[in-house]
Amino acid sequence: MTFDLSPIDRAKFVAARRSCNFVENGMRIGLGSGSTAAWMVRCLGERVRTEGLDIIGVPTSSRTADLARQLGIRVASLDEVKWLDITIDGADEFDENLNLIKGGGGASLQEKIVATASDRMVVIADVAKEVKALGAFPLPLETVPFGWQTTKALVEETLVNMDVLGREATLRMNDDVPFVTDEGNYILDLHLKRIGNPRQLSLVLNQIPGIVENGLFIDICDAVVIGHGDGTVEVR
Ligand code: 5RP
Repeated sequence: MTFDLSPIDRAKFVAARRSCNFVENGMRIGLGSGSTAAWMVRCLGERVRTEGLDIIGVPTSSRTADLARQLGIRVASLDEVKWLDITIDGADEFDENLNLIKGGGGASLQEKIVATASDRMVVIADVAKEVKALGAFPLPLETVPFGWQTTKALVEETLVNMDVLGREATLRMNDDVPFVTDEGNYILDLHLKRIGNPRQLSLVLNQIPGIVENGLFIDICDAVVIGHGDGTVEVR
């Protein structure tokens, strides 16, 4: 595959391409969502086509499922496969402990379920996703539509006692209507600016009725493949 790419897309592409080296014949693979993960799915599709790579992919969104099928990758549900060898996915932010914010594309619930059911999770990201402290990227909360405004108020009240700099929660919109996830839920984006204690925040948020799951991935990611605009890659 050769492309004329912008530096950011080249960084995403080279990270995605390198991550495919983790994939071997016979593996069951969690296929992440987003633009970086889409490059990874394309690279795997290329290997299926040219090398006859025999894999089963479990997609984390309807969009990834469509792409994988188009590229000739065998697709199964998590319940059919039950456990995965590896999940490869993008991220919105990662820190030095490989804790993540995910869900910018609205798929973090399925992404977290799939990554947790994997022997190994590898994140692919351009170098701009690396942060000293998580939180500049708004933290997505998958939220049940029933009573979402009450849930939002409760979330904002809860944040008063947390080690964060901002407290505003906004409902994610798609044109003029609420964005709806593959699971039929809404997303509240939390504008926290800086998260002092991601582990504690994740536990507290998940205690709130109406919150299905949050986009913090703590102790789930095992390695990160970082792409740079000049085409170089590092693995941590
Ligand atoms: C989707 C995600 C994506 O992995 C994340 O938003 C990164 O996206 P991109 O690779 O397009 O920058 O978590 O829910």
